[in-house]
Amino acid sequence: MEDTSAAPRQLASIDYFGKRAGRYRESHGNLEALEQLVRMAAPRGDEVVLDVGTGPGHLACAFAPHVGRVVASDVTMLMLREIPVVMRDRDVANVWRVAADAQALPFVDEQFDIVTSRLAAAHFPDHPGAVREMARVCRTGGIVLVADSMGPEDPEARAYVDDLEWLRDSSHGSNHSFNEWNDAYRAAGLEVSEVYVTSGRLSSMENWMDRADTPPENRERIYDLIENAPETLKRHVDIGRDGDGRLFFTTSQIRILGRKR
Ligand SMILES: C[S@@+](CC[C@H](N)C(=O)[O-])C[C@H]1O[C@@H](n2cnc3c(N)ncnc32)[C@H](O)[C@@H]1O
Repeated sequence: MEDTSAAPRQLASIDYFGKRAGRYRESHGNLEALEQLVRMAAPRGDEVVLDVGTGPGHLACAFAPHVGRVVASDVTMLMLREIPVVMRDRDVANVWRVAADAQALPFVDEQFDIVTSRLAAAHFPDHPGAVREMARVCRTGGIVLVADSMGPEDPEARAYVDDLEWLRDSSHGSNHSFNEWNDAYRAAGLEVSEVYVTSGRLSSMENWMDRADTPPENRERIYDLIENAPETLKRHVDIGRDGDGRLFFTTSQIRILGRKR
């Protein structure tokens, strides 16, 4: 019988990240990008923080020196095993690891002062459900801060971008749009107080695909999709061939901070 639940996607994600955990730890620890998020949360020093989809714990360990305690949670056990390496590198001891699915967090209500998630939400099968869970475990007056890739509002354009992203990285689910983020926050009882959106052309399509181990046949399909992108789509996605004959693709990122009412 065909499994139509979110389970196969989630298992694909666990498999994908499990195989790349060590490499991911080595390549995604840019301190300036992490500290930008810490500054946005503006901790006082005694908070209890939950980082959801923490991977090897880069954001958890960036918060650690600025707060009381951090719980680093992820659904991929092999990612959680990388956290002690990052803790040693950053010389922090106040990080606890918990295996957890973002859509069913194993914590009681209102347990955390700050709930964060970086570069993970596009992989969660149930986006509004995960935001609801992050809000549930956040105390009233606490904050939920997410950073992730962002998709276009137009549904066809978003499906096109998701196809590209999925061909590149089979763990990809969906890049949620600005409105989807705002709606999910509002529905979860979070008042959005800061949003930053940035966009930029990928400097190299090859590097982008190398970082995800994209198989050669999928690279061909990505090139083909970009080469033959319909003109109507280009109203929503900055994509095509530049003056030097190189294919290009612009990606967007969102950082969104909301306070629990
Ligand atoms: C791209 S990594 C990001 C890791 C980290 N947040 C960072 O910024 O470096 C995405 C992470 O999300 C995790 N993930 C995917 N689906 C998840 C889910 N349903 N619940 C919790 N974590 C999940 C993956 O295991 C992976 O570690």
